[in-house]
Amino acid sequence: MAYDIDMIKKVYAQMAERVEKAREVVGKPLTLSEKILYSHLWDVEAEKAYARGKDYVNFSPDRIACQDATAQMALLQFMQAGKPKVEVPTTVHCDHLIQAKQGAAKDLKRANETSNEVFDFLGSVSNKYGIGFWKPGAGIIHQVVLENYAFPGGMMIGTDSHTVNAGGLGMVAVGVGGADAVDVMAGMPWELKFPKLIGVKLTGSLNGWTAAKDVILKVAGILTVKGGTGAIIEYFGEGARSMSCTGKGTICNMGAEVGATTSTFGYDDSMERFLRATDRNDVADAANEVREHLTGDDEVYANPEQYFDEVIEINLSELRPHLNGPFTPDLATPISEMSKKAKENDWPINVDWGLIGSCTNSSYEDLTRAASIAQQALDKKLKPKSDFGINPGSEQIRFTAERDGLLKIFEDLDATVFTNACGPCIGQWDRSDRKGDEKNTIVHSFNRNFSKRADGNPNTHAFVGSPEMVAAIAISGRLDFDPTRDKLVNEDGEEVMLDEPKGIELPTNGFEVEDAGYVAPFEDGSGVTIKVAEDSERLELLTPFEPWDGKNLLGAKLLIKAHGKCTTDHISMAGPWLRYRGHLDNISNNCLIGAVNAFNMKTNFVKSQLTGEYGGVPDTQREYKEKGIPTVVVGDHNYGEGSSREHAAMEPRHLGVKVVIVKSFARIHETNLKKQGMLGLTFANENDYDLIQEDDTFNFIDLEDFAEGKPLTVEIVHADGTKDVIKTNHTYNSNQIEWYKEGSALNLIKKLNA
Ligand code: F3S
Repeated sequence: MAYDIDMIKKVYAQMAERVEKAREVVGKPLTLSEKILYSHLWDVEAEKAYARGKDYVNFSPDRIACQDATAQMALLQFMQAGKPKVEVPTTVHCDHLIQAKQGAAKDLKRANETSNEVFDFLGSVSNKYGIGFWKPGAGIIHQVVLENYAFPGGMMIGTDSHTVNAGGLGMVAVGVGGADAVDVMAGMPWELKFPKLIGVKLTGSLNGWTAAKDVILKVAGILTVKGGTGAIIEYFGEGARSMSCTGKGTICNMGAEVGATTSTFGYDDSMERFLRATDRNDVADAANEVREHLTGDDEVYANPEQYFDEVIEINLSELRPHLNGPFTPDLATPISEMSKKAKENDWPINVDWGLIGSCTNSSYEDLTRAASIAQQALDKKLKPKSDFGINPGSEQIRFTAERDGLLKIFEDLDATVFTNACGPCIGQWDRSDRKGDEKNTIVHSFNRNFSKRADGNPNTHAFVGSPEMVAAIAISGRLDFDPTRDKLVNEDGEEVMLDEPKGIELPTNGFEVEDAGYVAPFEDGSGVTIKVAEDSERLELLTPFEPWDGKNLLGAKLLIKAHGKCTTDHISMAGPWLRYRGHLDNISNNCLIGAVNAFNMKTNFVKSQLTGEYGGVPDTQREYKEKGIPTVVVGDHNYGEGSSREHAAMEPRHLGVKVVIVKSFARIHETNLKKQGMLGLTFANENDYDLIQEDDTFNFIDLEDFAEGKPLTVEIVHADGTKDVIKTNHTYNSNQIEWYKEGSALNLIKKLNA
């Protein structure tokens, strides 16, 4: 599907030299992660031994992938860059906007009706700018990437946190916000704090009921949801080599659940087998030529404590199947202990649904292992006690699984086969059996199990397990079922046990598909017109933000002084607002509605200095905008923490907020503000936050001298006429000051391209 073999060969051609140079610069043997990072530096000349967890470094990723929910704003922004084509190979995948309800055919038809304008938009933008487009139903972004684009030693970014799945094929693949993706599409570098490195040594080999999923369920239990933050997890050892490539993908996928930047494995025979099975002999041949550079140095793996910041060792031969949950993916329980733990915690024992799929566990091997359990239910006359739902990872997997009779086994058990899409994993699930908020239990092979994630019900207890364990539990209908020990009673009243699962790593007769769902872009897309209906609720073409007029900013009014935590969710809520991700004006109606007003401790309730009345933040701000009055947002510590979503910076900018002054910023949000042409400042003396009053007016009296490293002076005029003059700091470098001058980073790119 148009993977770029020339690009891959180019990466490999320079790998030996770059790895050698990195070894010299760092002065010691290298991990795989370091080899990939150092061989993807943006500025090779500036290479030095970067401090892990400290230095910000510019990289050149090889690929970009976007899913339909995040691609909308990313592509709307890219359209502003004035580029005829994306500079780095990019794909768009329609997988998030398809609701699971009645089964694949009907669900896909309905999604095509309800979201057709979004799909059409993404399709035509892709066509115009040389982006590969995967239609609704083609599959889940990360499975499609693994089957078509991922390659050992490569670096990719994607606008989805589970982009990390591609580590299963030896990449450094990282989930980013749309603004980062747009930079790289437009030919700019991608900045990342040089990660720390966690090594996981796998010994032994998986056996019996234990699956690759159990490795990451165990790791999640050890590291917890924050333990991997800012780190790459690198797996190695004989146990790593003994696992399938898609199993490795599962492990890397859920690295997102411990907060890891990404996870990866060294190139090995399982990856070569997967590349060849997915019709990429040329990639496998090219990788074989540079094999030694596609894994960590021997010395590193022999003495990992000397080279990693933290080392974990897991013996796969002793590892037992786990279920993690409910409500958090790091609450790990070996199934042998579930009976006791469920009783202690009063978790509902009866299981209503067993769901198999998601980007985490929907490979051919996963389906065969789960099907080997499902087949036993048919053979041993066991009627499943729970409902079954299946989401194949891609059309290629679905088609092959149908050909090989795997789907029939599930259908014979009355399973519903949903579209090759995210479905219940992202809450796109019209759950037929429950409408209320009753306490209940489901088990699934997905990655996330936060409250409300699958079905919107805060009382749904979701447990994460391997597909085969999900199948076994769905058959038994009990959360505390341990198939290694427990018997089931069949329709003839006999006691039977389930045998261990059996899987097939790759289809014996090869993968097959009639229409994979890929649409190649036009060679020359210059004639493509992007159509967005004037009255569209969901999409709106962007208008470039106004450049700075070069003058001091005077007479700006306080919009809100936010108290305490103000995350990107407080600034731009998710949930029902997801619908408007491609329509800046409509989604701006959620701007700061979750922020707590420091003057009355209420949300979405601020004073208008124009009328003296209190109202919602977006409405109040729109009044200021209409009158051409600039405004200021004041915030506390770590303002803008949370996700990297650019909407949190674009919305205030769109509505006419000019400056955000806070005690401290979350770094990504600070960068996003800069990219969108906003002024993001921090109080030089953080106690000055307390000086800000509800009716304040701000004068930025030396903005005309805006320069790198030079604090800015702010005159705060209170309602009684008294004034405070304070200093604020900023971190704009000279290039970022140009973004500010031009109105946004994209405006500058466009100007440079003109
Ligand atoms: Fe989709 Fe769930 Fe993966 S939302 S991309 S299947 S984590």
